[in-house]
Amino acid sequence: MKKVLLTFIFLLITKISYADFKMELGLSVFKEKAMCGTCHTLQAAKSEGQIGPNLNLLKPQISQIIYAVANGIGVMPSFESVLTSEEIEAVAYYVFKSTNE
Ligand code: HEC
Repeated sequence: MKKVLLTFIFLLITKISYADFKMELGLSVFKEKAMCGTCHTLQAAKSEGQIGPNLNLLKPQISQIIYAVANGIGVMPSFESVLTSEEIEAVAYYVFKSTNE
């Protein structure tokens, strides 16, 4: 029983810290590596870009963000050659979490 409980606690902790890690990576991609904030407003990242849609108002789905970042859309460039797939996933997770909750 004790073992089960310990395993459970361990899983819970790793799950939480993995989510935190993804949020942190996502924020750094948003602010620094891809500079999404130059074009997009996102309150959580304190960005006020006006070139693309306001992400707080758009509330995009994860798949929609991944698609836009990987392939580009309209004047927004594709980030496929700049970001790893882990970074694309993290930035999508970050934008989704900061706008849909
Ligand atoms: C050079 C300016 C620019 C940069 C940098 C930029 N975007 Fe965009 N983004 C745009 C524009 C403009 C649109 C609207 C395109 C359209 O609908 O024609 C857009 C659209 C989007 C959309 C909506 C897609 C949809 O389905 O309507 C999302 C989500 C998005 N951007 C996320 C991001 C993220 C995340 C980053 C950073 C990795 C980023 N953008 C970087 C300009 C930019």
